[in-house]
Amino acid sequence: MTATAPSVTLPVLADMKKRGEKIAVLTAYDASFARVLDACGVDIILVGDSLGMVIQGHGSTLPVTLEHMVYHTANVARATRRALLMADMPFMSYNSPQSALDNAGRLLQAGGAQIVKIEGGAAFVPVVEMLARHGIPVCAHLGLLPQSVHKLGGYRVQGREEGAARAMVADALAMQEAGADIMLLECVPAALGAEISATLRIPVIGIGAGPHCDAQVLVLHDILGMTAGKPAKFCHNFLQGHDSIAAAITAFVQAVKSGTYPGAGHSY
Ligand code: KIV
Repeated sequence: MTATAPSVTLPVLADMKKRGEKIAVLTAYDASFARVLDACGVDIILVGDSLGMVIQGHGSTLPVTLEHMVYHTANVARATRRALLMADMPFMSYNSPQSALDNAGRLLQAGGAQIVKIEGGAAFVPVVEMLARHGIPVCAHLGLLPQSVHKLGGYRVQGREEGAARAMVADALAMQEAGADIMLLECVPAALGAEISATLRIPVIGIGAGPHCDAQVLVLHDILGMTAGKPAKFCHNFLQGHDSIAAAITAFVQAVKSGTYPGAGHSY
């Protein structure tokens, strides 16, 4: 992969879904790692609010502010040439359609993001519609919502019961119809990840959502064996058996593209 390879855009991702080519996604929070990810063929770089945990050392994503997100997104943007650049909208930054528009605008204008991600389902249809009307691409995040950790009572698998699974499919369709361009599913049973990926026309990124999603994302520090505490079931240390960070990232991209990651042991 070279820095002159064509840029990844939403139409490119839509075409990859149609052709069945898997999409590789990783998080990054600074220019040095972003440069390596971009050169190794990562299709989407996510500046996740997971930075609250892996960069800032908090126990959750809740302390992350819009200014933190703009700062880290701008650092990543300076080193990204090919990958699509996605930025998380942090907790409390999309409480109304107007605040979502103002804050997403900052992430695009000052941060250089090309798409923003919000956590939530049908209740956020007005937010997605507002962003879509203003030409701002949106990724909707369903399943385990880390910004709702206190409401959920912990970081645990979502959508195991039939009623919850049906509600998640309905939420996914509502977000797609509202104008979401990408869906992200976190910690859901593999069968539900497969169903939502087959039902939606937009690409579905999974993290702990089984092998049948159109894309796979992991937190950069997890693939480099730097997880604080016990890694989640879906984590895999790609640095093991490789002698450089670039080799580990390339191995992740190849494993996603070839379908060898996630394996059965990574799914719920
Ligand atoms: O903040 C984050 O890193 C995320 C994960 C789902 C990858 O949203």
